[in-house]
Amino acid sequence: MKILEPLKWRAAVRKFDTSKDVSDVELEALLDAGNLTATSMGLQPFKIVVVKNKTLQQELVPLSYNQQHVAEASHILVFAIETDINQDNVDRYIERAMELRNLPSSALEGYKNSISQYMSSMSSDQKQVWATKQTYIALGTVMTIAAELKIDSCAMEGFDPVGYQKMLNLESENLMPVVILPIGFRSNEEVMASLPKVRKTRDEFVLEVD
Ligand SMILES: Cc1cc2nc3c(=O)[nH]c(=O)nc-3n(C[C@H](O)[C@H](O)[C@H](O)COP(=O)(O)O)c2cc1C
Repeated sequence: MKILEPLKWRAAVRKFDTSKDVSDVELEALLDAGNLTATSMGLQPFKIVVVKNKTLQQELVPLSYNQQHVAEASHILVFAIETDINQDNVDRYIERAMELRNLPSSALEGYKNSISQYMSSMSSDQKQVWATKQTYIALGTVMTIAAELKIDSCAMEGFDPVGYQKMLNLESENLMPVVILPIGFRSNEEVMASLPKVRKTRDEFVLEVD
């Protein structure tokens, strides 16, 4: 199936061509893909922080278990959850829905009450786990659209989130990185990307229940 071709082409690229950059137009498409991603209750409790600065990227390498692709990628997309999720998030969402859909507040009152109740039922730790799950959906969307555009990427959890938070001044923005995505174009020296994919067999992966 043609639609699966980008997913077959995609691979975790660890050797980027340092002479090729992702264009502004391509970057905006990836950010739009992240923003268009579905999230629980539509609250989008995360941001994508864009890093495009070779000096900074080099400084992030020791905070990334010395993984050089952080320095060599065109950009690093840092997926960061909001650390101060509260009623304001719900209020902002409802206000935006009213504005974009031209609705009176009464039309959204029931929904507002139910999501407010759900949010206030979660502890701070539960909210962070919930926000992280939403972030990974966006990560998957961005990786898929990148592959469609023949842009390489490498999802990475191998980094120090608190170190990144400090280096990128994210604490004052109430953001905590949870996963990062170096993006760019594979180098001719990238050997892993052309190897067959290691995946479970269909039977290992799928359980059919009649
Ligand atoms: C959430 C996540 C975290 C990952 N962390 C790292 C990482 O820190 N460093 C790295 O080189 N690859 C990392 N990878 C890449 C995986 O090792 C890779 O996706 C997996 O081996 C499958 O290979 P493929 O993506 O080339 O098909 C990560 C992938 C995901 C989805």
